This record gives sequence, structure tokens and C-alpha cells, in this order.
Amino acid sequence: MATSRKKLFIKTYGCQMNVYDSGRMADVLAPLGYEPAEEAEGADMVILNTCHIREKASEKVYSELGRLRLQQQEKAAAGERMIIAVAGCVAQAEGAEIMARAPHVDMVFGPQTYHQLPEMVTRAVRGAGGVINTDFPVESKFDLLPGEGATPQGPSAFVSVQEGCDKFCTFCVVPYTRGAEYSRSAAQILEETRRMVANGTVEITLLGQNVNAYHGEGPDGRTWGLGRLIRELAEIDGLRRIRYTTSHPRDMDDDLISAHGQVPQLMPFVHLPVQSGSDRILAAMNRKHTADDYRRIVDKLRDARPGLALSSDFIVGFPGETAEDFAATLRLITDVTYASAYSFKYSARPGTPAAAMAEGRLTEDDKSARLEAVQNLLAEQQRAFNAGLLGTVQEVLFDRRGKHAGQLLGRSPYMQAVHATAPDRLLGQVVPVRVTAVSASSLGGEVVTTESVHGAAQQGAAARPPFISPDIKANHQEMTA
Ligand code: SAH
Ligand code: SF4
Ligand code: F3S
Repeated sequence: MATSRKKLFIKTYGCQMNVYDSGRMADVLAPLGYEPAEEAEGADMVILNTCHIREKASEKVYSELGRLRLQQQEKAAAGERMIIAVAGCVAQAEGAEIMARAPHVDMVFGPQTYHQLPEMVTRAVRGAGGVINTDFPVESKFDLLPGEGATPQGPSAFVSVQEGCDKFCTFCVVPYTRGAEYSRSAAQILEETRRMVANGTVEITLLGQNVNAYHGEGPDGRTWGLGRLIRELAEIDGLRRIRYTTSHPRDMDDDLISAHGQVPQLMPFVHLPVQSGSDRILAAMNRKHTADDYRRIVDKLRDARPGLALSSDFIVGFPGETAEDFAATLRLITDVTYASAYSFKYSARPGTPAAAMAEGRLTEDDKSARLEAVQNLLAEQQRAFNAGLLGTVQEVLFDRRGKHAGQLLGRSPYMQAVHATAPDRLLGQVVPVRVTAVSASSLGGEVVTTESVHGAAQQGAAARPPFISPDIKANHQEMTA
């Protein structure tokens, strides 16, 4: 295959798994001469890596395809070709329908097939009709992709450890778009992480649709859970921070919980979606846990690691959700108290059991009113959490330059965005920062100077979780999805 230089633009929607996948697609296409481009304009190949989780997310794809058609035509007028591909969860769910709606699309391929990209590209370039690949191949893409971490990933990187889902929550498309649960071997994960760390990565986020359902083969031939994997990763010299997302309450086992108390690199922040505070709705959602099960898990986590903060996902307006059910959700939020959280209006997804539950469907207005109430409460909790950090010293991993000259951006242990005036040499480092300003969604701070680092470290360690007032109200953030 020709290896002349070509420009590749990948637009990513949805969850972190898609962000990770986009990176791997670029890796697979690099040997074919494709180099990352910043924009679609002029690109030789554009891949939309899509999300099907809610209606709004999937519809975005078609409007983007409309815009791309014009750019494809412009290129064609200049005698050049722009290959347009749709990847990810909409590709998996809608397959041929995409090409029927948008015939200018050259390739449609699902999340489990992108190790076959070179072959798909060859076929598309030959131009013998569109290429559609929505298989769930027997071989795992992870065994066939080039090893990750060979190229520098930056200070904070994702490592996919688990994919797919066997839980079948009644509202969710993921078991259909991503397929059955699969765990990578621990040896593969450890090797990739070591390579990343050797290339400057200091923080990893272990990824999976059900990351704590991880049950990969360990080098000792036994099955390892996520807790075991994390303990082993923590032995890697130079790896300062470990996170994982997204976990399911049912898979929060005692080993993983105790790892939070024992592994200092494991960050004191867990995204633990609950969806609803009503047992009746949780049952209808097939979540397989009650609201009190969830409260108990949160208590255990906080016993294991005092100061641990939480975030979550909530769905309001699930079919049949009464005012009482909704009040139970608000109660759960008040009891748990979150540092941040995402909340969504229920969106009926084709092919899922809940989409067929006609009874008790809520109007858009009712859903909107409930969403606003949940978001108000969550935003108030987030503000209070942020405000509680004012004056404390937090360890910040600077991973980017800020908008203003001389400014760096990073993340606190609790995933808050933090900006501070700091020299470039601190990029990629975990640095003590005194929090001097707080806003609804970010923190501002001052780097604690080397002379005072000793005292700062002590203060950092002594910093207790901020007190959060119970009578809270207010707002929300929208996921990229
Ligand atoms: N694997 C994760 C989350 C997957 S999707 C988990 O088990 O929790 C991310 C979030 O999108 C979900 O937690 C849920 O809150 C939301 N979501 C999923 N399907 C939805 C739907 N049909 N309507 C509205 N929100 C949905
Ligand atoms: Fe979807 Fe439920 Fe699986 Fe999460 S656990 S991916 S919400 S089916
Ligand atoms: Fe992720 Fe959206 Fe698929 S949330 S798993 S990209 S449906």
C-alpha cells in the first residue's frame, strides 16, 4: 500500500472509551501514511467516532455528515478524495441505515472491528461501494492492535482494561453496541502502562464500560479483579496516580474497596453511577441493586478512604417514575453528597426493553422540571465541595498550558480543573497548589514554592474532606454525549 502522507481527522463523541478508541484508530492508520489533522477541512480521511447513548447524541452524527458532504464535494472539485467514515456505537447500531441516509459515507464500522481498518481502507479506496463492518469478530482487537504506549501519551493517559457489558439495564444500548464483557490480560495492561510511564505518563485512568467487572487473566494464571490489578500497577515506579471509570455498584467488591485505603496512588474520587434513588425504578431499570445497597457501598468506600469524593450519573423521567420515586432520588443525592455528577432526561433508545414500556411515560415538560431540580441540587453540592477546598493545599497534576501566558492547567485529586501561574517545567508534574479561588466548576491556585513544600505536603495530608452543608440546591453539567 502507498505510504504517501495523508491527513486524518477524527471527531470523537461520547465516552472516554471512544476517546481511547480514536487514539488507537490513529495508531492503526499511521503505517498507511495517515497523520493526525486538526480539522476536517482538506483532510483525506474523516472518521466520526460516534455515540448512541441518547437520541441527541446520535442525531448529531447526521448533521455533521451533512456538513462534511460539502467539504467532500469541494475536494472532489479539486480532483481529490475525502474518505468519510462513521465508527463507534451509532455505526454498530445503525449499520447500513447510515449509508442509506448518507450515501456519501465510504465506511461504517463498529467498535470491535477497527484493527481491520487497513483492509477496510483498501476496499474503500478501490471505491467498489461502501464498506460496512459491524461484526463482533472472534479475535480480540486488543491482541491485534499495535502495542500502546510506544508513542508518548502525555502526563495523563487512558488504558482500556475491560470492554462491553453483560448487565442489560433496560434503558441502555451499550450491551448491544459494545457487545459482551471482555477483560484484557493483566500482563498486557501492565506492559502497556510501563511503556507509557517510561514515556512520561504519570497518571492512568483504567477504562471499561463496567471497569470494576474486570476479571482478566493474571500472569500467575489466576483471574484478577480490578483491586488486584490496581495493586500491581501501583508497583510501577513513576506512576503517581491511578483512576478507573466507569464502575457499577454491583461490582464494587471488598478487595477494590480496601485498595482505596491501601494504595496511595489510587485517587480519592470514584464515579459510581446510581441512576435513581427509588427501589421500584431501580428494579424496572434492571440495575440489580437497591438505593440502600448503594448507600452501604458509599459508606464502605468512605470508611476505607476518609475524604473520598464521589460522582454519579442520574436518569430522570424513566417510564413510570412517580413524584415519590423522584423524591427518593433527591433524598439519595442529599444523603450521599456528591463532588460532581451528570444527569440526563430519560431517552428511549430503539431496541431496549424500556423503550417498549409505554405505561407511565412522562411528558418532556415533566422530565425537564425534574432534570432542573436534580441539577440544582447537584450544582449546589458541587459548589459547596469546591468552596470547602479554599485555602487548602491540593496536589495538582499539570497536564496542559492555559489560555493565558504563564498559566498551566491541571487536575486536583477530585478531578476538578485547576489553573495556576506556573513555569512550563512543571508540565507533567504533580505539584502542591494552594487553592485561592473557587468557582462552580473549577479552582484557581498558587504553586506552593519549593521552600514551603515540606509544610505544604503536611497541610495537604491533613486537608480533610470539605464540610458540605446538607441544605443544598442547584445545577448541572452536560456530558459530551
Ligand atoms: N457503564 C456505565 C454508564 C454507561 S452510559 C454505567 O453502567 O453506569 C453513561 C450514562 O448515560 C449512564 O450512566 C446513564 O446515566 C446515561 N444513560 C444511558 N442510557 C440512557 C438513556 N436511554 N437515556 C438517558 N440517559 C441514559
Ligand atoms: Fe449500560 Fe447498565 Fe451496562 Fe452501564 S451497566 S453500560 S448503564 S447496561
Ligand atoms: Fe460510549 Fe456512547 Fe458507546 S457512551 S459506549 S460511545 S453509546
